[in-house]
Amino acid sequence: MSAVVLVGAQWGDEGKGKITDFLAERADCVVRYQGGSNAGHTVEVQNEKFMLHLIPSGILYPNTLCVVGNGVVVDMGKLIEEIQGLQARGIDTGNLCISFRAPLVLPYHKKLDEIEDRKSCIGTTKRGIGPAYADKINRTGFRLGDLVVDRDGFKERFKQQVEDKNRIIQELYGEAGFDYKELLDQLLSQIEFLKPYLADTSLLVHNAIKEGKRVLFEGAQGTLLDIDHGTYPYVTSSNPTAGGACVGTGIGPTCINQVIGVVKAYTTRVGEGPFPTELTDELGETLRQKGVEFGTTTGRPRRCGWLDAVILRYAVRINGLTDLAITKLDVLDSFETIKICVAYRYDGQLLEEFPENLAILGKCEPVYIEVPGWQQDITGVTSYEELPANAKAYIEKIEELTGVKQALVAVGPKRSQTIVSRQIFD
Ligand code: IMP
Repeated sequence: MSAVVLVGAQWGDEGKGKITDFLAERADCVVRYQGGSNAGHTVEVQNEKFMLHLIPSGILYPNTLCVVGNGVVVDMGKLIEEIQGLQARGIDTGNLCISFRAPLVLPYHKKLDEIEDRKSCIGTTKRGIGPAYADKINRTGFRLGDLVVDRDGFKERFKQQVEDKNRIIQELYGEAGFDYKELLDQLLSQIEFLKPYLADTSLLVHNAIKEGKRVLFEGAQGTLLDIDHGTYPYVTSSNPTAGGACVGTGIGPTCINQVIGVVKAYTTRVGEGPFPTELTDELGETLRQKGVEFGTTTGRPRRCGWLDAVILRYAVRINGLTDLAITKLDVLDSFETIKICVAYRYDGQLLEEFPENLAILGKCEPVYIEVPGWQQDITGVTSYEELPANAKAYIEKIEELTGVKQALVAVGPKRSQTIVSRQIFD
């Protein structure tokens, strides 16, 4: 039995797409379990770059079963665009399966996300994610399967929902509403395209695990964007943490053997909210430029800062991390010295654990240790032994501060620029 969960250990954008793609070569099945088209996973193979939002990063391998689980909110228009985009580039999407239970992101969700974010200033991706999950929890949402099995029931409930949403959009916010008939026609044509991909994905994944296949659960966003454990309210509306893999796919926790935390060698975040190690000076700009830290989904510049071991220890605890995959180590190549935050200072006290309260986090000052940089190009390094001594020392310091060993280190965006210290699916 080999089921591995891959999660982001920071605020997302850790390079999960690249690591998933790398591991997918040895996996039989790659499963997305939460989030939606707010995710942006970049995969570079040879000289080709692929941006994936809803489709698992395993899709580039023809024999890997790729599953969009019930926990993912699906914008059918975006999904169709992504499928067609891959097909146009010669990628076979025949191995893609989407859960009947996946909730729909509808045009009014996107509109509401846009309007409400102006007020809440969370800085969402405006992909309708929050309003779609809100409808799911409120039991006023729709699932892909509703469009297939009980179409009459769907039409009746959908008409009511469009009316309710129009009331909010028009009367409360004074903006243009939606035409029910137009929306319905659009959805009915989209589902015809997607129907062949729909499946009972819980059963598929369960059977794959039972048959001893190698299953990889691909998280989107990151630990600190988790609705329960993240920096609420500056979070996404799902559970990117490891526990989300079970509810978001319909498999039990006893099926999971390993949890890999993807850790970027420094820290970034998009959108608003406290960020103790943020660098707002030239160093931050250097990280942004060297690391090409601009959102895959929105193009927004990411906020950049030093690595924060308090966050990483929290990620180890919340996710039960068994291994680390350290990414973008090469971005630090030119630094003379590198800082790592090991604790916070708050109100005269030293905090070693991530604070429960956002107001406290907002006032935390980072306590740094400083380590020497390696000032050498490592993008061509292919084994751990070949890394410069100071780069190895930086990695070992991360292992010491988190209590978890690395299995993979990425030294560039390409699939080939990945150093393996320990095989994941052996
Ligand atoms: P939403 O997921 O669009 O509702 O956005 C909520 C918060 O999560 C915002 O701060 C976004 O910038 C952030 N977010 C959502 N998806 C990603 C991602 O894939 N990477 C990084 N941040 C994300």
